[in-house]
Amino acid sequence: MQPARLPSERVVPTYTWIAPVHDLLALLVEADARDLAHRWAAVQDGERVLEVAVGTGLSFRRLLRANPNGWTDGLDRTPAMLRRTRRRAERTGLSGWTLRQGTAYALPYPADHFDLVFNSYMFDLLPASDFEPVLREFYRVLVPGGRLVMANMTIGPAWYHQVWEMLYALHPPLLGGCRGVRVRPAMEAVGFSAVRRAVVSQWTFPSEVLYGRKSA
Ligand SMILES: C[S@@+](CC[C@H](N)C(=O)[O-])C[C@H]1O[C@@H](n2cnc3c(N)ncnc32)[C@H](O)[C@@H]1O
Repeated sequence: MQPARLPSERVVPTYTWIAPVHDLLALLVEADARDLAHRWAAVQDGERVLEVAVGTGLSFRRLLRANPNGWTDGLDRTPAMLRRTRRRAERTGLSGWTLRQGTAYALPYPADHFDLVFNSYMFDLLPASDFEPVLREFYRVLVPGGRLVMANMTIGPAWYHQVWEMLYALHPPLLGGCRGVRVRPAMEAVGFSAVRRAVVSQWTFPSEVLYGRKSA
């Protein structure tokens, strides 16, 4: 795993300029992994759902539509990304949601609250030493038996997957500061059970999709 090279204080400025173009790459190379993550999330209408790092709302609007009689919270560090999610959420015409600015490191929600925490393409920005502290926050806010579903850029087995690692090594902002990561060991260390992982490759871009449960 390469080290995280986008300093934390550069995340908000970087995602402020990326916001208008973010969805181009996301739709081209992340759509298949996102679809699988939503299948694994299997939202039941009426649940309490949290998406951490909503970005432009590509997943948030899907979570909302799957949960019209439940409640869906969303959070992100970057106001420019949150504004896009807000517009998408408003266009659904649904009302059971809130969005707020905040950080995954200190979630502003009570313990034992959410049936599902959903998170995509955020851990690939974080230093590996922060995986467990952030996952402990996810674990804290889940109800016993609650589930975590994530998608991340990962390190693929094929030679062509390395192209993305080379782009990152050349200039991290080219990929929004994201590099391939493997988060499963940290999930297990934090205590998630029934952990499963799939690797999905789309146009040579490797993603991992992860599922785990908080002990009942
Ligand atoms: C690559 S985008 C992914 C957005 C969205 N999850 C998706 O899959 O399209 C990364 C997002 O993570 C957000 N982010 C980065 N670090 C964060 C943190 N510590 N807490 C909350 N959001 C964070 C950024 O602001 C940005 O919106």
